[in-house]
Amino acid sequence: MVPALSSLDELGVRFGTDKSSLFHDYLSFYERFFRPLRNKPIRILEVGVLKGASMRVWHAYFPRATIIGADINPGVPRFDDSRVTIEILDQSNLEHLVGLGVRHGPFDIIIEDGSHQWEHQITTFRTLFPFVRPGGIYIAEDLQTNYGDAAEHYRGVATMSCMEYLKRLVDLRVADEEIDIRREEDAFLRTYGRAVQFVAFYRRACLVEKAVGSAGVDQRAVQPILTSTRVEASVPVTLLAHISGVGDRRATSGAVRGLMAVQNIQGFQLEQAGGTAVPLEYRVRGQDQTWGEWVPLGRFAGTRGQSQHLTGFSVRVADRAFEAEVVGLFRDTLQPVIAAEGQDCVSRSGDALLYGMQVSVTRKTA
Ligand SMILES: C[S@@+](CC[C@H](N)C(=O)[O-])C[C@H]1O[C@@H](n2cnc3c(N)ncnc32)[C@H](O)[C@@H]1O
Repeated sequence: MVPALSSLDELGVRFGTDKSSLFHDYLSFYERFFRPLRNKPIRILEVGVLKGASMRVWHAYFPRATIIGADINPGVPRFDDSRVTIEILDQSNLEHLVGLGVRHGPFDIIIEDGSHQWEHQITTFRTLFPFVRPGGIYIAEDLQTNYGDAAEHYRGVATMSCMEYLKRLVDLRVADEEIDIRREEDAFLRTYGRAVQFVAFYRRACLVEKAVGSAGVDQRAVQPILTSTRVEASVPVTLLAHISGVGDRRATSGAVRGLMAVQNIQGFQLEQAGGTAVPLEYRVRGQDQTWGEWVPLGRFAGTRGQSQHLTGFSVRVADRAFEAEVVGLFRDTLQPVIAAEGQDCVSRSGDALLYGMQVSVTRKTA
């Protein structure tokens, strides 16, 4: 009988996986990340079943989890439990991996403990990471096989080690403004390089947490800059802004910002989907500091892709039952500029470029 609240490592020792503190000592590290998921109905995939020791650990630690094990060896044990499924496949075969992800994903946790061949480690990560749910975890184990005497055995046909590949992911995460992701040659890194929350290296293993939010789009780009003081009376407004080097970005949050020093706002339009139609008007100020015409909801103000950046904007409402407030981020200071309805939102220095903006509309209370 397994004590109900055993730690992950105690279970590892009990069931005899080499992940326990008696050998690789991964489990106490994993427990920091796994504990909040313990009683949740999560989906776990492990590539590499062997005698089933780690399958038994996951089964005992996560009482509500669905556990999928994948192995090339048809002789691995099967489990008489509806929570556990074993798939026989080759982790170097893309079709096998994609099929596995489609049949059983998305996963909260994936652990790769298979052949340790460098090419298999990279291929499995590239193919299965898309099947990790946002906020989920991918772990690559036994990365010491990328070094020393082991390298000769595990290199196979690979032109780079899995560690070298993961370090490129680290570069993209750390230098998220300095490295232009669009110039990344590797299609996986181009797609998922910015869909990573963090990369943690441990003794012999690497843990990658997937960002919450759609792949490739940093959520800061569409997060509200400041929360409106009157959230309860807010009227939803969608902002579509054209950002240099990025293109159009549409946000139902009403806020958009460029993330790199070269990403400035060149024009925008406001939209309202259904609900209360508010007669909004807005105008933009160019680099020559002249103001454009006021335009109504649904019309684009400013330019697209002409290297003409904005230095200000303002929003007004023709209906007295509503009021608008805008926030601007300008290149001369980190402090946002807040402007009331109809007022000019421009930088303190007067001529700094606009790289972030937010429009909030609220219904006035009597
Ligand atoms: C280190 S053992 C797994 C140990 C297990 N996870 C545990 O902790 O108890 C590695 C397993 O990977 C499997 N394997 C080797 N090459 C593979 C491949 N190309 N595809 C899938 N599994 C593979 C082996 O059959 C073996 O069972």
